[in-house]
Formats: sequence, structure tokens, C-alpha cells
Amino acid sequence: MTTLFTSYRLGGLALPNRVVMAPMTRVRAAAGGLATPSMAAYYAQRATAGLIVSEGVQPSAIGQSNPGTPGLHTDEQVAAWRPVTAAVHTNGGRIFAQLMHGGRVSHPDTIGVLPVGPSAIPAVGDVFTPTGPQAAPTPRALDTLEVPEHAQAYGRAARRAVEAGFDGVELHGANGYLISQFLSSNANRRTDRYGGPVAGRIRFAVEAAAATVEAVGGARTGIRLSPGGTFWGIKETDVLELYTALLTELARLQVAYVHLEATTDEETLLALRRAWPGTLIVNPVLPMGPKQTGRDDADHWLALGADLISFGRAFIANPDLVERLRGGLPIAPVDEATYYQGGDAGYLTYSAHQYGR
Ligand SMILES: Cc1cc2nc3c(=O)[nH]c(=O)nc-3n(C[C@H](O)[C@H](O)[C@H](O)COP(=O)(O)O)c2cc1C
Repeated sequence: MTTLFTSYRLGGLALPNRVVMAPMTRVRAAAGGLATPSMAAYYAQRATAGLIVSEGVQPSAIGQSNPGTPGLHTDEQVAAWRPVTAAVHTNGGRIFAQLMHGGRVSHPDTIGVLPVGPSAIPAVGDVFTPTGPQAAPTPRALDTLEVPEHAQAYGRAARRAVEAGFDGVELHGANGYLISQFLSSNANRRTDRYGGPVAGRIRFAVEAAAATVEAVGGARTGIRLSPGGTFWGIKETDVLELYTALLTELARLQVAYVHLEATTDEETLLALRRAWPGTLIVNPVLPMGPKQTGRDDADHWLALGADLISFGRAFIANPDLVERLRGGLPIAPVDEATYYQGGDAGYLTYSAHQYGR
């Protein structure tokens, strides 16, 4: 019987277990989008995960969403990531970089220019800026000829990620950021080849994945998706048709995995499982929902055909999550106040389970 602790072969990697650390933005990078020694310690503490997916990393300067996030578009950023990936590897782990282009979910005060999007339609909600939350601005709609440049940015950043020692990259195609904006039917009102029917709305995602596969190979390329998700005011019509078409193209590109969030009903997710022949990672709860992923959710989805299960919040507060799950040990609660606070408190201060107490 497959359990969370059964090993798994992912592309060229041998994972000792099926527990994936979900990508989580922690906004603790140094100026210039540089990774820090604290980030190396944080990821190294969690290296018993079968696979770590890093926080969202901007593939280009204009793709930055939040202040304080790291990048993979300059040589200095590559150099700053090397000690992080080395620390994970030294501790026996594996790490992919999540490439996150924020698109319209950004602000001129953060990136110095107007953010871009598929259409000149603002996200719903406040975005983080260096001076605090502000209303999401109306983005500049990309010209048809500019769109491939943004797809290519994922490929370039992927190459830099591998140079920096990452084992691969995960394209952030979920949660209302740029790829998800293109997939959407209300953020994307384009009338060119990147909008309209399903074939148009998946085109940007497919071009981004193709650029990444060309840069680093399919075995090093994953993608995260949130079918039917409503983050930042996103709406999607034809969810099953849209994602089935996208998965068909991703299968053709032979990407290493698809990472699905439970943002739609189980029936639709199971249909997507059947439509995707490759490795499936499931994040079994609603992101930012009231209940964080636990052992029961993981077992439920392994039984339904997921290959790997990602845990987010539980990994923040439990650096030794794999051992706690294996031993049925208590899962420590997470302090939400320190998610994005900066500094080492709530970042490096969670300890492994103390036996005998
Ligand atoms: C502090 C925080 C930051 C997050 N940042 C990201 C991110 O950068 N990229 C992403 O795809 N998801 C992000 N998420 C969503 C998580 O990956 C995950 O889907 C969510 O927390 C639900 O899983 P859980 O119940 O196991 O925590 C974030 C979640 C949290 C709590």
C-alpha cells in the first residue's frame, strides 16, 4: 500500500517520501531580491521533505508581486541562492524554485512601473507595497507581440535556477497571478490569440511551460494550478474543459508534475487526475482556508490517486513535519502574525519535536 512514507521517483530525483513542502512566500529576501543565510537555514531545517518547493520567486523585475520577495533574474540573485540550495542538498533534501510572475497583482511603488496583465482590468483587493496595502492598480495590457517575452522570462529564470543549484522549477500557474490571469475569463478579455476560447486562454501557460522545458528539460519543470480558484477576483468559465485542454498540452511537453490545489469540487479534481498521465501533487485544502492540510487529507488524496501531497502551513511551524507525521506526533500550531513579518522570529524559531517532554 502506498503511504506518505513510500519513496517516489520524480523525473531524475529519488524522493524518500511523498511529503512536499508547498511554496510559501515569506518576504525575507534582502535588497535586490537576494536570498539570505536565514533563508538557507529555514529551507535546510525542512530538508527531510521529499521535495521542497520554494516561496514564489520573480522571474523578471516586472514580475515581482510583493516587496521583499527573492528573484532569479540577475547574476547576484543566482549567487545568493547557491548557499540555500547547497544547504538543502547537504542536509539530504531536494528543492525546486517556484517561478511566480505577479502580473497585475503588484504596484508601481513596488516595481517602479505599472504592472502588466492580459487586459487593463485591476485585481480585486489590496496589494502589498513598501508603504503598506494599497488598492490594486489597473495594469497595462500587454501587446500581442510583448506576450512571448513574458513567457520566455520563465525559461530564462529556470536556467538561472538550475545554475543556482535548484533541482528544477515550478511555474506558478495558480492563485490569480500572471498565468492564472491569462487562464481566466474575466481578467483576460483579449481578442487576440492569447484570449477568447479555451485554446487562446491556455496559450500563455503552454508557451511559458514550453520555454521552461526548452531551457531546463521536462524532468525539471513542474506547474501549479488552481482550477476554479477565485483569488484576486479571478473567474474561470469552462473549468473542466479549460484544464483538460491545458493538461493535454502539458502532457505533450512531458513536464515532470502538475501540482493541483483543491480549489474546485472533488469530482472535477478526479476528472483532472484522469486527464493527466504524469505525476500529480495535490494540495488537499483550500489555500488560506480555515483548516490546514493534515494527515487525513493526505491519506484521502493518496487513496484517490495523487502521487505526492503538499503541506503548507504545517511546514512553517514544524520543520520536522515528516518525522511528526510518521510518528503520529503532535503538529505545532502556526503563528500567522509572523508569516510576512520579516526577521527570524516565526521563521527559524520553530523547533523539532522535543522527545520526552
Ligand atoms: C504564508 C503563506 C504564503 C504562501 N505563499 C504562496 C506562494 O508563494 N505560492 C503559492 O503557490 N502558494 C502560496 N501559499 C499557499 C500554500 O502553498 C498552500 O497552498 C496553502 O497554505 C494551503 O495548504 P496548507 O493547508 O497545507 O497550508 C502560501 C500560503 C501561506 C500560508
